[in-house]
Amino acid sequence: KRPAGAPDAALARKVTKVGVVGAGLMASQMALLFARRLEVPVVLTDLDEARLGKGVGHVHAEVDKLLAKGRVSADQANRLKGLVTGSLTKDAFADADFVIEAVFEELSVKRQVFAEVEAVVSPGCVLATNTSSLSLAEMGAALEHPERLVGFHFFNPVAVMPLLEIVKAPSTDDATLATAFAVGRSLKKSSVLVKDAPAFVVNRLLTRFMGEVIAAVDEGTPLETAEHSLDDLGLPMTPFALLQLVGPAVGLHVAETLHAAFPERFGVSANMAKLVASGKPGVYLPDFSLDPE
Ligand code: CAA
Repeated sequence: KRPAGAPDAALARKVTKVGVVGAGLMASQMALLFARRLEVPVVLTDLDEARLGKGVGHVHAEVDKLLAKGRVSADQANRLKGLVTGSLTKDAFADADFVIEAVFEELSVKRQVFAEVEAVVSPGCVLATNTSSLSLAEMGAALEHPERLVGFHFFNPVAVMPLLEIVKAPSTDDATLATAFAVGRSLKKSSVLVKDAPAFVVNRLLTRFMGEVIAAVDEGTPLETAEHSLDDLGLPMTPFALLQLVGPAVGLHVAETLHAAFPERFGVSANMAKLVASGKPGVYLPDFSLDPE
């Protein structure tokens, strides 16, 4: 069945090689998923050897886990490891049909990345972004071919979460959108079409819910109480464990984007902002403190 709003699948272009910009946690999880489900070469790029090595190393470690669980054979594991490679230059994307970025959540950084990618790829190559909240219209404003920009928003952990938000920018054409849906189907994700609106759908809802828990702590509710206040709802994770998984900096960034768009509906916790600015990586209880000082 065609997902609501998806164009005719016949318009989809074939994807024979994927490029992933960034080799962080989301990017390396995505690279493995593309290699496993599309069975095509996937090239990761990042700024330096250390980051790239870490990303490719993460992919190999995840493949070893799949092998240990019997989810892939030894042959498949070797093939998967061979399919995912790293490159320090984006020239490796020259023959890619689908390039996705998962770099720092900052408009100017993403625009720069896409300018560099557009200089090497063919005009038919889809440019996808894993942004969780930024405007695609703004991201694609300087592109030569903004019609091939599309949002392709995964959820953490990428291998496990079934949902994929496919974001249509005002400029996105039907062939690009159809290709995005076809790739989503090959990845065995449940794709939903969402508008190019601040934080799309999931993060807008999630930020409201997390914002209320954080506001309760800011207003004096003990952390332990807030952390366990939702235990009986049957959620898979407690709020601060989820914040830890998503990353406090990402959560804060989404809250700031929503606050800028809808100041009356979304607040930004000053304590969260301080915590992120302090650079403390761990927030999971019992170490969690919303007051980093
Ligand atoms: N990478 C790969 N696989 C992972 C994984 C990871 N990081 N974390 C868990 N898994 C796998 C495990 O290997 C296990 O697989 P098998 O069944 O094959 O063994 C399976 O997931 C279940 O894991 P566990 O048994 O260890 O733990 P669990 O049952 O408690 O599930 C969870 C873990 C799937 C993360 C679950 O707690 C969950 O669904 N949490 C909610 C996550 C969520 O809401 N994510 C969305 C965040 S919002 C976001 O990402 C968007 C954004 O833009 C900010």
